[in-house]
Amino acid sequence: MNREKESCVKALEEGKRLTRSQWKTLVSDPDGEDAEILAQKARRIREERYGRAVFIRGLIEFTDYCRNDCYYCGIRKSNGRAARYRLTREEILECCRQGYALGFRTFVLQGGEDPFFTDERMAELISAIKGEFRDCALTLSIGEREEESYRAFRKAGADRYLLRHETADPEHYRLLHPAGMSLERRMGCLRCLKELGFQTGAGFMVGSPGQTPDTLAADLEFLQELRPEMVGIGPFLPHRDTPFCGRPGGSVELTLYLLSLVRILLPDALLPATTALGTAAADGREAGILAGANVVMPNLSPAGAREKYQLYDGKLCTGNEAAENLEALRRSMEAIGYRVVVDRGDYRGMIGG
Ligand code: 5AD
Repeated sequence: MNREKESCVKALEEGKRLTRSQWKTLVSDPDGEDAEILAQKARRIREERYGRAVFIRGLIEFTDYCRNDCYYCGIRKSNGRAARYRLTREEILECCRQGYALGFRTFVLQGGEDPFFTDERMAELISAIKGEFRDCALTLSIGEREEESYRAFRKAGADRYLLRHETADPEHYRLLHPAGMSLERRMGCLRCLKELGFQTGAGFMVGSPGQTPDTLAADLEFLQELRPEMVGIGPFLPHRDTPFCGRPGGSVELTLYLLSLVRILLPDALLPATTALGTAAADGREAGILAGANVVMPNLSPAGAREKYQLYDGKLCTGNEAAENLEALRRSMEAIGYRVVVDRGDYRGMIGG
C-alpha cells in the first residue's frame, strides 16, 4: 500500500473526517494487497463489535410494480416485459410465518414504488406483521415517500428503512435516473427517516455506468456525514430490458474493498453481503463476510414472485439465498468460521456473539 493511502487509512481508523481528495486516494485503483490489508482491519473491527455473528434478514419482495424509471433497474416502469405481481396481505403474512418458523426475527418488505400500497394499506400491513410477530424487527424498502407517510409507517411499528442513495454525485445521479428524480429529494428522504427514528440504510451499486473515483469519493463522504446504521453495497449487474443492457457489470473485488472501507468508517454498521454480490461471484457472499459484512438477506418471497422480481439478469433465488436453504447457508458460513444467528441483531445490539 502506498504511503498516501496508508495515511488516509490511519486517519480513518482514528475516526477523523476525510476530505474528498483523501477519499479519492482511498478508492482509486486498489490492488490485491490494499484489499487484503483493509479486509483484515475490517474483520478485526467487526469482530470487536459483533463477534463472528452473521445476522439474517428475511427478504419479502412483495410487489414489482414501480412508478419510477431508473435506467439500471429491471422493474422500471418502462419495462413492458417485466411480469408484474403483487402479494396479498395474507401471502405476505404467510411469508413471515414461514420465516419465523425458520428462525428469522427480522423481515424486510421490499418492493417497487407501487401506488397500490397506499399509506393506509402499508400502515395496516405493518401493524398486522408487528402484531403477530412481536419479537421481530420490521424493515421497509419501498422508496421515496412524503414525511407524513414515513411518520405513519413508524407509528404503525416499522423499525428500519432501507433507501440506497445510489450515488452522492448529482450529475451521476442524473445519468442513472430520468428527469423528475433528484438526489436532493432522495437525501431529504434519508435525513427525514433518520429524524423519525428509523434505523436507516443508505448505499450504492459498484460499477454503475458513469461511476468514477470522484463519484465514489462523494459516496463515502456522504456516508461519513449521514452515518447510517446500515449500508447496502453490491455490484451493478446489467438487465437486458433496460437502457443499460450490455454494459459491463461492477467489479466484485472493488465491491469487497468498499465493504471493508465502510466497515472501518462505520464500525457498528449492519452491512449485508448482498444478493447481487452472490450473483456476481459464486463465493460472493462468503467473500463479503470476510471483507467485513455481517448480514445476509435470504429470500422469503414465494417462488413465483422471486422469479419475477428481476432487478438485474441472473439474480440468484434458489440456492443459499433462498430462506428454505438456511441450513446450507449456515454450513457455508461455518466453513469460513462464522455463525448465523437468529436474533434481531439490532444496531450496537450485540457484542460477542
Ligand atoms: N444491478 C445491481 N443492483 C441493482 N439495483 C437495482 N437495479 C440493479 C442492477 N441492475 C439495486 C439498487 C436498489 C436496490 C433495491 O437494488 O441499488 O436500491
